[in-house]
Amino acid sequence: MAKQRVLTGITTTGTPHLGNYVGAIRPAIAASHDEAVDSFFFLADYHALIKCQDPAQVRQSSKEIAATWLALGLDTDEALFYRQSDIPEITELTWVLCCSAAKGLMNRAHAYKAAVQANEEAGEDPDYGVTMGLFSYPVLMAADILMFNAHKIPVGRDQIQHVEMARDIGQRFNHNFAEVFTLPEAVVDDNVAVLQGLDGRKMSKSYNNTIPLFLPEKQLRKAINKIKTNLLEPGDPKEPDNSTVFQVWTAFASENEIARMRGEFENGIGWGEAKKQLFELVNDELTGARERYNQLMDDPGYIEATLQKGAQRAREISVPLIAKVRDAVGISPVR
Ligand code: TRP
Repeated sequence: MAKQRVLTGITTTGTPHLGNYVGAIRPAIAASHDEAVDSFFFLADYHALIKCQDPAQVRQSSKEIAATWLALGLDTDEALFYRQSDIPEITELTWVLCCSAAKGLMNRAHAYKAAVQANEEAGEDPDYGVTMGLFSYPVLMAADILMFNAHKIPVGRDQIQHVEMARDIGQRFNHNFAEVFTLPEAVVDDNVAVLQGLDGRKMSKSYNNTIPLFLPEKQLRKAINKIKTNLLEPGDPKEPDNSTVFQVWTAFASENEIARMRGEFENGIGWGEAKKQLFELVNDELTGARERYNQLMDDPGYIEATLQKGAQRAREISVPLIAKVRDAVGISPVR
């Protein structure tokens, strides 16, 4: 039997932060070593255009995200690592799928519905500022997934609906034309930590509470010192389970170190000392990767060559697949 294919995309709009690392990148790279799976990771740069109309930011983010995954040790001989825009078959497939995806299905997509609702609340036209890109976003994502006949799609909760739509769109195509597509399933890992940000809410770019992953050491220390705490003094016992400092600690520490820190909290460790230890822990885990990251950012040729190698491998799959799709729908040489 063919190996299970696990596929996920990263939208290239921001700078990777500790929450991305703990919640997505670290577990994805670990899972890619599993012999029983073939992993596909890609930079979703056409998805970036939906949210971001700043070319410099899209370019910079693509570079940073690629460098991040490579610096963290993604083995690109093992996993397929590519850039969506290097696979023209994906956008071609998007159009074909647009012609079988139901508009009514897209009307129900959360991101679109949220935009419409915000407009209605503001007394605007419901479609104010809504582009066709935003509306069709789930079709592009379906093409990403169906193109490689992926089985499992590791995503955050907010993306489950999109994977279900991909499944729906693939099923409809298979039914109408030919059995071309594998039907994908979303996988949400509940064991993976959702990291808290500086203010204690989920670490997220939209809350402006992130700690960038590869901050220089001094700035990392400063950022960790900004994590919100309460006014308890050194010597006062502290509640680990509602402390962001402790929550971030648990995402980086071993079982023993977690137990030790829990004891320290109960014994009244000062916030300054707890943050100092947290900085050391996080910094130790990231130092080697940060060095590689900085080297890679200074060596764009290497990053580009790696992406091109990935694109070449990916197209060994996408070119024959799009040929099947074209043939199934009647786009073929005259004969
Ligand atoms: N839309 C996803 C996100 O914002 C990124 C993405 C694009 C993706 N294409 C994908 C994820 C295909 C999984 C599979 O997080």
